[in-house]
Amino acid sequence: MSGRGADLAVQSQRLDGKDLTNTATHAMEVRDLYKSFGSFEVLKGLNLGFVDNAITTVLGPSGTGKSVLIKHLIGLLEPDAGEVSVFGKDIWKVSENERYAIRKRFGVLFQDGALFGSMNLFDNVAFPLRKHTDWSESEIAEIVMIRMKEVGLEKALEKYPSEVSGGMRKRAGYARAQVFDPDIVLFDEPDSGLDPVRTSLLNDLILDMHREHGGTYLLVTHDIRTARKVSDFVGLIWKGKVVHYGPTEEAFESEDPFVRQFLAGESAGPLGMD
Ligand SMILES: Nc1ncnc2c1ncn2[C@@H]1O[C@H](COP(=O)(O)OP(=O)(O)OP(=O)(O)O)[C@@H](O)[C@H]1O
Ligand SMILES: [Mg+2]
Repeated sequence: MSGRGADLAVQSQRLDGKDLTNTATHAMEVRDLYKSFGSFEVLKGLNLGFVDNAITTVLGPSGTGKSVLIKHLIGLLEPDAGEVSVFGKDIWKVSENERYAIRKRFGVLFQDGALFGSMNLFDNVAFPLRKHTDWSESEIAEIVMIRMKEVGLEKALEKYPSEVSGGMRKRAGYARAQVFDPDIVLFDEPDSGLDPVRTSLLNDLILDMHREHGGTYLLVTHDIRTARKVSDFVGLIWKGKVVHYGPTEEAFESEDPFVRQFLAGESAGPLGMD
């Protein structure tokens, strides 16, 4: 075990209630990741490991590359340089079939919810099952009902996304992300556009689901309370690099001016409007 791995294992044992004894292993890791769009450099040598079976939150100013990072992890974007490793495999050094198989182990809740407006919530959640399996409609309905119950939407199956609240749309997106029992779940701002109470309820749901199903979670959020409440580890990204990474408690106790400013949401500090 490397020095850093050993540190992580020791730190993780302090995380209450969770079995993170094997946290030296990273379910996903990005190493020296670079990505530009034209001449615009977004990721500038990003290094970050996601501890297996833990919830890691990534925070950072708008436009700093958090969604771009998620797209790299699921193989939607190919890095200009660097490595994206999932379950120990560089996803760009394996065959397309293998990359596809790896991608199937992910559940993703996209920033905009990404529900189909023309389908009711049941059909939205059933969609990946109908597309990627040859299961019968009754088998599909069984899975959809389990997932919808878990997120408290069993009474809203017939509703269309435009007929339900933002919180319900997020929960439907979450139910859809869970249909294949993913090993890794990525959430891009699950709390955006939600009021504080619904954000808090969604956070409880995320914690409950994680306790129930386990898995490696990456949660991108702008909500400091969300980060504090749900995460085992916190990573802060600024200008295309990780400026802080560690257990949640340590991040919130950090003396680093950027970390302090960001986590306190203060206007005074190294972080400006640029
Ligand atoms: N496909 C693309 N083509 C060109 N530019 C892109 C593309 N995707 C992202 N960008 C740019 O990369 C930068 C980082 O985008 P990204 O969406 O990752 O930010 P973010 O950290 O998720 O921000 P937010 O907190 O607002 O969601 C932005 O300036 C964005 O305009
Ligand atoms: Mg984003």
